Amino acid sequence: MKILAIETSCDDTAIALVEAKNNKFKVLSNIVSSQTEIHKKWGGVYPSLAKREHLKNLPIVFRKIRRGRTSADFIAVTVGPGLEPCLWTGINFAKDLAKKYDLPIIPVNHIEAHILVNFIEKKPKLPAVALVVSGGHTQLILVKDIGKYKILGETRDDAAGECLDKTARILGLGYPGGPAIAAAAKSYPRSDLGKLSRGRTSDKLPRPMINTEDYDFSFSGLKTAVLYGFKNQPVNQMAKEIQQAIIDVLIKKTVKAANDYNAKTIILGGGVSANEELRKQFKRKFKNVIMPDKKFSTDNAVMAAIAGYYNIRKKTKNYDKIEAKANLMIK
Ligand code: KG4
Ligand code: ZN
Repeated sequence: MKILAIETSCDDTAIALVEAKNNKFKVLSNIVSSQTEIHKKWGGVYPSLAKREHLKNLPIVFRKIRRGRTSADFIAVTVGPGLEPCLWTGINFAKDLAKKYDLPIIPVNHIEAHILVNFIEKKPKLPAVALVVSGGHTQLILVKDIGKYKILGETRDDAAGECLDKTARILGLGYPGGPAIAAAAKSYPRSDLGKLSRGRTSDKLPRPMINTEDYDFSFSGLKTAVLYGFKNQPVNQMAKEIQQAIIDVLIKKTVKAANDYNAKTIILGGGVSANEELRKQFKRKFKNVIMPDKKFSTDNAVMAAIAGYYNIRKKTKNYDKIEAKANLMIK
């Protein structure tokens, strides 16, 4: 079967056509139209602007997809969580297409999609603990099976990606902050981590909640420390420290959850999982860590197609029932 998938939960307008058969997937086309240039000015995503861009880009991206093989059997669309006005643009576009071609729509959860994109080649050994880290989310999820999830913990304030975006802004680096911090960190060759100077003493950035018994996160204190605590440090040294502080917390908590729940696999997903250092250091700390190809870490529609395939039972032609759910939770 062929699934046409549409993803507009944040600032990427993404459409993909994926052929799925017996839990195997072939990407026929995959287009992501990024709005980075537009949101750069603001240092973050501005929802009404993002909505306007989705409206403009959806038909353009769809036309490009149609130049290839076109016919689809199902339309999968992200219904949440995400920015509500943005979600609606994708949903309404999906509904128009579905009506025109008389196709069923499969509603997709964006977080589940970030997890299930890791199933593109084969199903990993379960149970797994998934860490979904993006600009909007930082969640640890127990994956008992496909469709059987339990949220173990999440951030109490900023998401990890949000922290990277905000601290990058403080340091005067570009947007999105994750790749900008990673690039700046790379240009700081020395390995003397934890030696920031605060007055005459050396100090390190905080690792909020790293040793708590729960599986929750908090990143706003890290941002505040960067803003007020450490002035006049070289930017690339700060970038390296910030990146490492976030990596330390993410790895410690995820590995703890994996051990506590006897997980056979750690699954990574979301934009921050594109981070090279995070990927490298995770592999050193746990024997079986799987992560998406980098282009599938950040938002894309292939992940929505795969999540659609595994949720085919939710297909409907009762289009009025498909609605945006900004705070949709994975269950
Ligand atoms: O999953 P995603 O594309 O969108 C959301 O659902 O939020 O994630 C975007 C986030 C941004 O915060 C961005 O700074 C971060 O992922 N990001 C990275 C990298 N690439 C994107 N963070 C660290 N290293 C990267 N290479
Ligand atoms: Zn995402």
